[in-house]
Amino acid sequence: MKLGGIEAEALAERYATPLLVIDLDEVDGAIARCRAVCDPHGIEIAYAGKALLLVALARRLAQRGLNLDVCSIGELVTAERAGFPAERITLHGCGKSNEELEAAAAARVGRIVVDGVEELQRLTRIARPEAPLRTLLRLNPGIEAHTHAFVRTGGEDTKFGIAPRDEDAVRAILRDATGLRFSGLHAHVGSQIYEPGAFVAVAEALVQASARFAREGFTAEEIVIGGGFGVMTDPSRPNERIDFRATIDAVAKAVAVAAARVRVPPPRLGIEPGRMLIGPAGTTLYRVCAVKHQARRTFVVVDGGLYENPRPALYGASHHAVAASRPNLDLQEVVLCGRSCENDVLGRAMLPSALREGDLVAMSVTGAYTYSMASNYNRFTRPAVVAVTGGQEHLLARRESIEDVLRSDVLEGV
Ligand SMILES: Cc1ncc(COP(=O)(O)O)c(C=O)c1O
Repeated sequence: MKLGGIEAEALAERYATPLLVIDLDEVDGAIARCRAVCDPHGIEIAYAGKALLLVALARRLAQRGLNLDVCSIGELVTAERAGFPAERITLHGCGKSNEELEAAAAARVGRIVVDGVEELQRLTRIARPEAPLRTLLRLNPGIEAHTHAFVRTGGEDTKFGIAPRDEDAVRAILRDATGLRFSGLHAHVGSQIYEPGAFVAVAEALVQASARFAREGFTAEEIVIGGGFGVMTDPSRPNERIDFRATIDAVAKAVAVAAARVRVPPPRLGIEPGRMLIGPAGTTLYRVCAVKHQARRTFVVVDGGLYENPRPALYGASHHAVAASRPNLDLQEVVLCGRSCENDVLGRAMLPSALREGDLVAMSVTGAYTYSMASNYNRFTRPAVVAVTGGQEHLLARRESIEDVLRSDVLEGV
């Protein structure tokens, strides 16, 4: 098996396992496809850094002309080290610290998306009237989107965004906020969404909200409909992905119609994809530690798990896995597990019955929300991340050492 033109076995030997391999040609392809759909509608694309952000990756995304969403000082400093232009960075987060608000007020980002009333109040005290900060409000549109469906709940019960009942309060605060320049409205309603109607509903809800804001003297120049565009994770279910072109075309049309109906100028549109741009480009390579034939099932224990991919444990995500070092023949269903001291099932997989300790397993679509969510649980060291493109490889993050893990322990602490 080859990744970016390089033998998976050679990569595993050079960088050890688990190893996250990012195929940069796939990232470029995903960006190009996204642009081809969005550019004709003038839609701005911001990469959601939470999916995966490393300095060299951020530098490359900046060169590709994308905007960037960050939601912590850590993500912001990563972008800064990459030389990402501040004016193309947006600060997100549902519980921003004063340090983050101060960074925004100091123009280390070009925009902020405010997530609540208290945050807006705090920001007005920190913001600088001499350099008003471009400000969007994240609304809670009462739409819950799931993989296959979405519902209008008429009052979404989540921690994110500003509830309809608080809109008057935020407008009152904005009226006196000389350090802020209201520029638009935002919503993000879920992840791995396959249903185009969910995005259309969000866009329509934001246009309706922009009419309420317009009546009170606030013009929304832009509306951002978030990320969450679902990608295929299992080749045996090829239809389980969003039709991105149909979705964006429908959103653009719905916004034009809704804006005309509520008599507001059509706002500029923005999206914030993370997974769609980086997820499918990632493959994780694991070594098999053990193959255990237990009472009813066969368990394949690999050298990763919860600490480097918490997604299956966190929200039941599944990934497709194949044997990378032997033919995928005579397959049997196995439970693929990590080696954390939890029942950290990575998923069910069809793997060769001849699979043995030391074999290599490749798990696909692991570019998003794996490394970025990794921890040192069990004091495991986080894996290396290597980028591949056309037979070349570039290390993006080296494997942590035990010393890295121990670095913040205070030896004389007690
Ligand atoms: C506000 C916001 N925007 C964008 C995204 C990116 O979502 P995805 O990676 O599913 O496209 C997220 C993900 O949680 C988010 O919270």
